[in-house]
Parts: sequence; structure tokens; C-alpha cells
Amino acid sequence: MKALILSGGKGTRLRPLTYTGAKQLVPVANKPILWYGIEAIAATGITEVGIIISPETGEEVKAKTGDGSRFGVQITYILQETPAGLAHAVKIAQPFLGDAPFILYLGDNLIKDELGTFLTEFKEKQLDALILLRSVKNPSSFGVAEVEDGGRIRRLVEKPKDPPSNLALVGVYFFSADIHRAIAQIQPSARGELEITDAIQTLIDLQYQVNAQQLTGWWLDTGKKDDLLEANRIILDEYLESNIQGTLDHDSQVIGRVSIGKNTQLINCTVRGPAAIGDNCYLENCFIGPYSSIANDVKLIDTDIDHSVLLSGAKVMNIHQRIVDSLIGQRVSLTSAPRRPRALRFLVGDDSMIEIH
Ligand code: TTP
Repeated sequence: MKALILSGGKGTRLRPLTYTGAKQLVPVANKPILWYGIEAIAATGITEVGIIISPETGEEVKAKTGDGSRFGVQITYILQETPAGLAHAVKIAQPFLGDAPFILYLGDNLIKDELGTFLTEFKEKQLDALILLRSVKNPSSFGVAEVEDGGRIRRLVEKPKDPPSNLALVGVYFFSADIHRAIAQIQPSARGELEITDAIQTLIDLQYQVNAQQLTGWWLDTGKKDDLLEANRIILDEYLESNIQGTLDHDSQVIGRVSIGKNTQLINCTVRGPAAIGDNCYLENCFIGPYSSIANDVKLIDTDIDHSVLLSGAKVMNIHQRIVDSLIGQRVSLTSAPRRPRALRFLVGDDSMIEIH
């Protein structure tokens, strides 16, 4: 059994962050989203992991993630020249995958459920495909499955106007090598991509055994800002452990579960957990509220932050209102005059979004 994680793509929904960085490397609770997927796969005992990368962000993904030894797996990077669809990614990974059955894992997805039980079912029932589903409120925005009693999938529909169920396809699939034969038969969709749903539908039409299992825990697709903040909230809530390595002066206090990294200094600050602060940060006269993740090398002065994610190297100074529900990119500088400003001056990248309330 092998695994293939998709970490290419365009990431249009997370612009402008994805102009300069891979969305799969955006940290959730100060760990790249992609790493949660690698860890979930490593926990099943699979050691051969392929990662699809794009020409734009591939080097960054490689440099950050390495050869897999830190996860106890062996990573092979596979370059996809254009983001031509999930099934296209599987197609170009065929030399790596060979005839092995494999898990296909979308690198911007997070699920609570452990993969091991699904893997056991996939193997024991000798399925050709096992698709994970999750009930959602708005099935029309997803790929949706119609499932027979007993778990066999009858049909898949992409973003249906009239959904046959509320069961959306989660970005984790188990396939036998027969998926390659199905992919060889499909054509690009209206949006020009080779769709994995079309390949699965082909398997179903050819009478292969394609079953579904429903997730019991949460599923987060971190492709958009609000979903990413939600992922950050849930991961901090469920997994963060208190761990203070930096230094706090006498006027600073931490309440609840808080992690503070190496060489980080807090002066006259209050941090209310769950919150994670990375290494080499400097915080003075700040309030850091629950569900905030602050990456490495961040500088915050006279600032209030709540339910937000700040990426590495960001600098926020003298902002007189509380910053909430925000995603602040790498090396962003957000400063204001020490007294209430009379004017706002911006140098903001394409597709940025600023809301002043
Ligand atoms: P999506 O989020 O569906 O696509 P995208 O990354 O192009 O994003 P957007 O819709 O915002 O433009 O992709 C799911 C995952 O699969 C994501 O981690 C990127 C990856 N992917 C590839 O590696 N190759 C591809 O050809 C596509 C379409 C996605």
C-alpha cells in the first residue's frame, strides 16, 4: 500500500497568500496543513508516500517537508506541470504508484477520523475503491454520492442542483490499481480538468466494487480563509498542549492552554488560550485571544488579536482596534501611528481584502 498526497493546484480561493506560497504550507496551530495529512498516513503504517507538487510552489513544499524521515516515511516528490485535475495528478504519479493500491489524500484537507479503520475495511472487503463521505448542509457545493444500503455507491454527481443525498465526497480515497484503467478512459470535464469523480463513476459503471464510509468526526477543507480559521480553531481546541519555552516578564500572564516557542519574549502581555505562539517572536503590550496562532519571527506591539492566524515574519504595531477573524500573510507589516490615526495608508497586494468596521 502506498499514498499519494496532492500538494499542487492553483489555490485561487486563498489568494493573495497563494501568489507567493503553497496553501498546503499555511500553518494550522503552527504546523503546515500538509503535515497533518502525512502524519495521518504515517499512522497507518504506510511508508511510501508520493507528493504532487507544482512548478510554482514545489520547491517550498520540498524544502519545508524534506525526505519524510521526520514522519518515519519516505517521500517521493512528483512534479505536475499544470494543475489539470485530481485524476491527472494520479495519472502522472503512475510510475511511482505502479500496481500498488493506494490512499489518495488532498493536501489541504484535514479529518479527525483515523485512516486505519477505513484501510482495514478496504483491504478486508477487497474493494476497488473506498470513498469517504461526510454529511454537509449545502451538498450543492460538493461532489455528492448516492449510496445503496450496504455501502455500495450507485452514482456520483458533481455540485448537483438537486442533490440525491447530503453526503459530500471528502478529499480522502482508497484505490486499487484499477483506478488507472478508469482514468485512461475519461476525458477532461467542462472546466478542462481530469476529474477523479468521473474516474470513480467509470469504475462504478464497469461494475467494480466501489463502497463508501461516512466520517464520524469533523472534516475541514482549508482552501478558503474562513475554513482555515475554523480548522485552526478546532485543532487548537482539540490538540494544543501547554508548552512555554519563551520568556514572560512579571507583567505578563497566560491563561488556559498556551504554547510559546523558543526565544520568544512577552512583555506586559496577556495570552488567553487556546493559542499558539511560535519561535523568535517579540510581543509587547498585547492581548492574544483564544484561537489565535502566531507563527515564527512575528513582532506585535500594542496589539489585540483574537481568532486569527498570523504567518511568519508578520509585524503588527499600534493597531487601536481588536483584530479578529483575520489571516495575515508572511512578512505583512500592519502599523499605525501611536495615537489614533487620521488617515490610512496602504500598500496592499492583489486580491487582498481589508475590512474596516
Ligand atoms: P482544489 O482545492 O480542488 O483546487 P486548487 O488547489 O486548484 O484550489 P482553488 O479551487 O482554490 O483554485 O485541490 C485540492 C487539492 O489538490 C489541493 O491540495 C491542490 C491539489 N491539486 C493538485 O495537486 N493538482 C491539481 O491538478 C488540482 C486540481 C489540485
